[in-house]
Amino acid sequence: MNGIRLCATGSYLPDHVVTNDDYAKIVETSDEWIRTRTGIVTRHIANGDTTWSMGVKAAKRALEAGGISPEEIDLVLATTVTGDYITPSLSCVIQHEIGAVNAACIDMNCACAGFVYALDAAHKYLCASEVKTVLVVSAEMLSRITNYDDRTTCVLFGDGAGACILQRGENRFASHLGADGSGMQLMFGLYPPQKTPFNDQPAVENEISKIPMGTGMLYMEGREVYKFATRVMPEAIEKSCAKLGISTTDLDWIVPHQANIRIIQTAMKHLKLPMEKAWVTIQHCGNTSSASIPIALDELVRSGKLSRGDTIGMAGFGAGLVYAGAVLEY
Ligand code: ACO
Repeated sequence: MNGIRLCATGSYLPDHVVTNDDYAKIVETSDEWIRTRTGIVTRHIANGDTTWSMGVKAAKRALEAGGISPEEIDLVLATTVTGDYITPSLSCVIQHEIGAVNAACIDMNCACAGFVYALDAAHKYLCASEVKTVLVVSAEMLSRITNYDDRTTCVLFGDGAGACILQRGENRFASHLGADGSGMQLMFGLYPPQKTPFNDQPAVENEISKIPMGTGMLYMEGREVYKFATRVMPEAIEKSCAKLGISTTDLDWIVPHQANIRIIQTAMKHLKLPMEKAWVTIQHCGNTSSASIPIALDELVRSGKLSRGDTIGMAGFGAGLVYAGAVLEY
């Protein structure tokens, strides 16, 4: 068996909703600019939640939807760029909180492409090891690393989590992963500088260190990331389709990374698919990094519009730069 079955999905968005007008009170922006340039109207911002608590809520919803007990999970794959701790991993905290006592735990940091990278890994574990059930959880608290003085980035991001449970199955799956580290300086966040009693030399430099930037906050050159995104998103889906011997026009749904409505529109045009086939959540979620695809996937599943046998194309891209595409038969 070389396929995987998407058994169940779940997601969680914090209650607190922040509008475009709320941003106009803290930076020089407007509802009109944000709507027309990004498609974002509102986003959810954690107010008491943490990355792990959002991940746990999404995971529990997926377990409940699938009627699967936590003990059945063999592997938890968690993706985040905004974990609560340097260590332990997000996956270990989630494993404990949901009671997945038989699961091994791995965290993956592949920025906004994290969920699709995790799907690829889940597929490989399911097809080539004793692992029978994988829980993928993508949880992000972008508000933790957002610079609220920077209007070019702060309006874009939201918080939330999405999860899914996968098992071995007959359903077809293919993926295409890629990265281009030469674009690392286009989007990054820095740890505080290392200070120990034993080092007095300045750290070695690279493209990132040339950019004056405070620690802990996200920096992004939006226009350059935009160009990268519009190229790699359709390409990653096309290459995944090619591996299954199908055309992009055979796809029933596209669940894209939700970074900008204009990126999604351009990708759909390249894929020769109408916008009605794209599941879009950006208007009420903003960009939730690796959580954006599984949140959208869960909405699609729960909408009742997805039927077993439908093929779903997914693609994510982000800091690294990284990108990933996948096609999954539901
Ligand atoms: N409100 C009002 N004006 C603004 C704002 C704002 N919030 N932000 C920028 N502007 C201004 C700029 O200062 C600029 O003004 P100027 O012409 O006087 O210099 C003008 O608007 C145009 O700026 P651009 O950067 O060219 O705007 P653009 O249309 O490219 O939109 C955006 C910016 C939304 C960031 C877009 O480039 C984008 O979506 N890029 C992709 C980002 C992305 O996909 N990131 C995701 C990867 S990582 C992850 O998902 C976590």
